[in-house]
Amino acid sequence: MSDGKLRVGQAGLGYWGRNLARNFDDLADLRWLCDASAEQRAEFAERYPEARVTGDFDEVLADPEIDAVVIATPVPTHHPLARAALEAGKHVFVEKPPAMRAAEMEELVALAEARGLVLMPGHLLLYHPAVQKLKELVDDGELGEVLVVYGNRQNLGKIRKDENALWSLGVHDLSVILYLIQEEIAEAAAHGRAFLNEGVEDVVFCYLRFASGKIAHMHLSWLDPHKMRRLTVVGRDKMAVFDDMELERKITVYDKAPEQPAGSYGEWRTRTGDEFSPTISNAEPLRLECEHFLRLVQEGWDGREMRDGLEVVRALELLTESLRG
Ligand SMILES: NC(=O)c1ccc[n+]([C@@H]2O[C@H](COP(=O)([O-])OP(=O)(O)OC[C@H]3O[C@@H](n4cnc5c(N)ncnc54)[C@H](O)[C@@H]3O)[C@@H](O)[C@H]2O)c1
Repeated sequence: MSDGKLRVGQAGLGYWGRNLARNFDDLADLRWLCDASAEQRAEFAERYPEARVTGDFDEVLADPEIDAVVIATPVPTHHPLARAALEAGKHVFVEKPPAMRAAEMEELVALAEARGLVLMPGHLLLYHPAVQKLKELVDDGELGEVLVVYGNRQNLGKIRKDENALWSLGVHDLSVILYLIQEEIAEAAAHGRAFLNEGVEDVVFCYLRFASGKIAHMHLSWLDPHKMRRLTVVGRDKMAVFDDMELERKITVYDKAPEQPAGSYGEWRTRTGDEFSPTISNAEPLRLECEHFLRLVQEGWDGREMRDGLEVVRALELLTESLRG
């Protein structure tokens, strides 16, 4: 480490990589920048004159002073690049999803475990203060038993060609749903259609049933008039909504539920009480995510983040089998 800061190299300097580079430059010693495009390399060489710039990831891995690498390249490259980095003894932060098959993710997890290295998937939403609040509401029993969780992630665009709506959009909601529910998936079903590019589903509806009977749903689409980034948690006692399109009221808790009042002879009635919006920190989730990764490298970890990442890839695989089946 230099000045107590971890020495980091980053591969992938595109749309998302520039946000990661900005944060890792602030929080760590960003020594290497790597991109396959000469144009990106030229831009970043100017922007970060103290970093070394290359088109060859192996050059980054060959530097014995590098503690950790950040991978923000296209999804199909995540697994080979992460594997090479772990084999070179580097801690790895890799954008979501780290692999496109569960077997590949299992291989990465085994490698990180065997070498005692951190492998953290970039599930950004898990570092969103609003998701942390949802988790607190669920774990503290504030909502009562959780029955249903559903996500809406819809918009018109960005129309992708190499990832369908499940892999591109669903990975976010899945990471949160699995984090909140913490149970094994008993049933997974997905339906969708590719309308614009052959083989790339633009609209996908997913259903999950968990071991205890809780259910979840995701509506994922870039063919929609509504821009929605919303997750709803229905508990037996209260209900909560995380709406990322809201500037102020990111979370709303509804004191609403069905109930069977004494003397009602088993009849269900509904109760509607107050609504409230807890204060949510406006800290940048990406900043919190980068800080979390560096803390795991410096302080050691129990592997939870990569095991959770493996569950996300397993769920994506199950849903893909159903979608294509
Ligand atoms: N967490 C989030 O909210 C979020 C948001 C957007 C993108 N992402 C993820 O970030 C990753 C990158 O997405 P993007 O939108 O920035 O894509 P992008 O196409 O804008 O950038 C990818 C960059 O990687 C470079 N590249 C490709 N192969 C390479 C290789 N082998 N070695 C070095 N560089 C290589 C390309 O030249 C390009 O500059 C994806 O995994 C995506 O899923 C995450």
